[in-house]
Amino acid sequence: MGYEVRACSSAAELGEALRPVWHYFGRTMPTDADVARVARVLPVERMHGAWEDGRAIGGAGAFPFELTVPGGRVRAAGVTVVGVLPTHRRRGVLRAMMRAQLDDCHRRGETVAYLWATEDTIYGRFGYGIGSFTGEIELAREGSAYAGPAGRAGQSRLVGLDEAEPLVSPVYERVAVDTPGMFARTSAWWQARVLTDPEWRRAGGGDLRCIVMDLDGRPAAYALYRVNFASDRGIPTGAVDVVEALGDSPEATRAIWRFLLDIDWTARLKAHLLPVDHPLRLLLAEPRRLRFSLRDGLWVRLVDVGGALAARSYLSPDAVVVEVADAFCPWNEGRWRVGPSGVERTRDEAELRCDVTALGSVYLGGFTWAQLARGFRVEELRAGALARADGLFRTPAAPWCPEIF
Ligand SMILES: CC(C)(COP(=O)(O)OP(=O)(O)OC[C@H]1O[C@@H](n2cnc3c(N)ncnc32)[C@H](O)[C@@H]1OP(=O)(O)O)[C@@H](O)C(=O)NCCC(=O)NCCS
Repeated sequence: MGYEVRACSSAAELGEALRPVWHYFGRTMPTDADVARVARVLPVERMHGAWEDGRAIGGAGAFPFELTVPGGRVRAAGVTVVGVLPTHRRRGVLRAMMRAQLDDCHRRGETVAYLWATEDTIYGRFGYGIGSFTGEIELAREGSAYAGPAGRAGQSRLVGLDEAEPLVSPVYERVAVDTPGMFARTSAWWQARVLTDPEWRRAGGGDLRCIVMDLDGRPAAYALYRVNFASDRGIPTGAVDVVEALGDSPEATRAIWRFLLDIDWTARLKAHLLPVDHPLRLLLAEPRRLRFSLRDGLWVRLVDVGGALAARSYLSPDAVVVEVADAFCPWNEGRWRVGPSGVERTRDEAELRCDVTALGSVYLGGFTWAQLARGFRVEELRAGALARADGLFRTPAAPWCPEIF
């Protein structure tokens, strides 16, 4: 094949293996500062390169995450910075890197891999199923009244990005530990990825601001946002652009969004990467004005079907037998009995039959088995098995990841 796929062994190699995806960011090479920033959160050995004559023609990384799944957390690979130079596209380089990466995850005991896809046709062939949808809103301020009372306003303060971490990270963690799709953020992640405001991320917008809101004397909500100022003959036309807004209770969530919606001298509020069941849809008197639009969110791959399924909780006592096909990771193939008392291989007759991608779709609770059946993604071999599986896999809230990694 003319190239060799292997993990990086130095920061210099990491920089070289980032080069292919940087091409698509419109840059020739990552700068030393770019590489240092990535290296704070991506161990060099978690970056695979496709090497030809000492240069990387492709690269693919995997953040070592602790991912929240229904009822717990699992070690998971957050797949990132995947790219193949346009000079080498469609020669199987991505396929070779996916092979090496998934084998590596399997060896490391990471039961799940997941990612945000640039295009939704790329990753299904490698066993990733669409695991969540995410929403985007654009709300004119004059249509932003709540249906009921706004509740307590909370005590809010603007804090510098350099002092925000101890205030906001506990709020994030309280939400993340209960929200399938979110991962535990390390201090390095906060500093290198979240509480930072490089020029390229602003895309011409205002500075990244952080507001912390106290309820009952302690931080209960925060928002990271930009004010993108614009006006037309003195009338505001600009927007508050919400990067991330979290509250650790329904009351705190209601209060932080009211705060954001009430920022003067702006015409609109924009936010993206919201969960499909975001409370604003019921808080607002006129939810239509959210102009809520959907796109695919997380794509989820069960690297070790038995381990991944055993790591989540199930809400009903009735087990179901699922026959799984997995052409790319054949160690997962076969029949699995799934239930609250365990997940094990079985010789019993299968009740549902599906590809591993379907498991990725139901794993975090983003889809029901009934929905998969209506999309011809699962076959019901015994009447009632779909309903039984939905009783098991049911989750109280939609999965959510508030950032693209
Ligand atoms: C997407 C990308 C990584 C594909 O790399 P590649 O080396 O050309 O892919 P491969 O040759 O290994 O293709 C493997 C399979 O995926 C398919 N494929 C690859 N890119 C695809 C795309 N953009 N859309 C649909 N199918 C795609 C190929 O047709 C091939 O199909 P096959 O298994 O049926 O033969 C590369 O085009 C790229 O770097 N794109 C820009 C950056 C990007 O989108 N990165 C992904 C970040 S999530």
